[in-house]
Amino acid sequence: MRNAVWEKLERLEKPTLARLFAADPDRLAAFATRFELGEEENSSAIRFDWSKTHLDAAHVALFEELAGAMDFSGRRAALFAGEIVNPTEGRAAAHTAQRGIGEDESVALAAEYHHRMAAIVEAIHRGAMGDVKHLIHVGIGGSALGPALAIDALARDGAMVDVHVVSNIDGSALERAFAACDPETTMLAVASKTFTTIETMTNAESAIEWLRENGVDDPYGRVVALTASPEKAMEWGVDETRILPFSESVGGRYSLWSSIGFPVAMALGWPDFAEFLAGAAAMDVHFRDTDGMANLPLRAAFADQYYTRLRGCQTRAVFAYDERLALLPDYLQQLEMESNGKSVKLDGSPVDGPTAPITWGGVGTDAQHAVFQLLHQGTNLVPVDFIAAIVPGHDLDPAHHRILLSNCFAQGAALMAGKASEDPARAYPGDRPSATILLDEVSPATFGALIAFHEHRTFANAVLMGINPFDQFGVELGKEIAKQIEKGGASFDPSTEALLALAGIS
Ligand code: F6P
Repeated sequence: MRNAVWEKLERLEKPTLARLFAADPDRLAAFATRFELGEEENSSAIRFDWSKTHLDAAHVALFEELAGAMDFSGRRAALFAGEIVNPTEGRAAAHTAQRGIGEDESVALAAEYHHRMAAIVEAIHRGAMGDVKHLIHVGIGGSALGPALAIDALARDGAMVDVHVVSNIDGSALERAFAACDPETTMLAVASKTFTTIETMTNAESAIEWLRENGVDDPYGRVVALTASPEKAMEWGVDETRILPFSESVGGRYSLWSSIGFPVAMALGWPDFAEFLAGAAAMDVHFRDTDGMANLPLRAAFADQYYTRLRGCQTRAVFAYDERLALLPDYLQQLEMESNGKSVKLDGSPVDGPTAPITWGGVGTDAQHAVFQLLHQGTNLVPVDFIAAIVPGHDLDPAHHRILLSNCFAQGAALMAGKASEDPARAYPGDRPSATILLDEVSPATFGALIAFHEHRTFANAVLMGINPFDQFGVELGKEIAKQIEKGGASFDPSTEALLALAGIS
């Protein structure tokens, strides 16, 4: 049964963005908030501007009522208290504990694991594993997307180790990493929560082979395992002293903060990794302690729900106007689509509306010259998030950054204002929504807060829809069928059989 609040939401008027701004002189103050990462004068902040969305006081009041009806406070308290918030797998969700926020035992365990990880990272930096110049990190999904993004965002200049994140089973991916590394000075991180994922284990075997073929006598001695299944890592051949465990309750797509972040700490050094955790912790505290629409992830979820369920938007786009954040849309795709792409509620009953939209996006200004046509004049309404930083990541002529940011802000303005024309092909309907997240700078702390914001936004959306964001059974069936094919003897539909025959697999 659909919650009665949705019926009230559906009956509300839907004013245009122009009318919303005209009607409320304080709209900007109400919907754009500066989130301070610390109390010191020089600490950084992030501005979250949701004023160019169609949320207004009436919608917010009803979404707050919806949050009450869906027991947002209770489910949030359960998350931070380490209760079983992932009932289908009988697990808590301990990602905030990795940042020091949450239930005492999980926080203590995460701190113990981090302590060990810091010691190993620092020992390797000091030469405990010989001269380490390169690190090949093999992992996939949540065991790769976060490290790849964080390293690209934060370690472009002066990385302490040259890291290559390899995820795809396609050998071309690994070969590219081999070509960029000297086996003499390369170590291998095998990142897998389960330590059974076929892509990661196959890549790990091939990397070991490559080290061996290139004169490394004890290739397993070059491996660090990042896993919630330490016994499997030992069986595979990793010495216990080089296994960095993390808790089973940390979901794969929420695991960047755990030992899965090892390559990030290797590239940045431990103090910066600690800053990254602290930035996320600041967002955790905000999310835990703030009620109603002042809660930034919840406010974003109100807008997400508005577009998905009241305006029928099937996608949401994210454009990073910052080359350092180019991998953010990929990361958010997994976070949001694997978490909330579900058809049943927590109690197993069918959902009563659409769930996660398709997250897509790219980097600005490139995307302006490729996909923005559809955003401005297409028939799909697409809510857009723009993400940018005030301080550039380079030392070139300031014109680069000025033009980048001008374009970013111009796109939001153009989507909203539109433009009339007597020639229909040249008319822009306008009234198209966007939100802007403007970081003072891309630093470990702001980046940590940005990612934690999205984790909590995803959770808040799940609560408003009554679903479990922490399982992912939808990924299993395809894996099982691939295993049956690999084993041989099973038969499939005629199309699949023909494809297998053509590829010489059966
Ligand atoms: O196939 C989906 C998935 O289970 C993701 O949720 C996870 O991040 C990824 O595979 C990798 O899993 P693992 O870390 O166990 O290798």
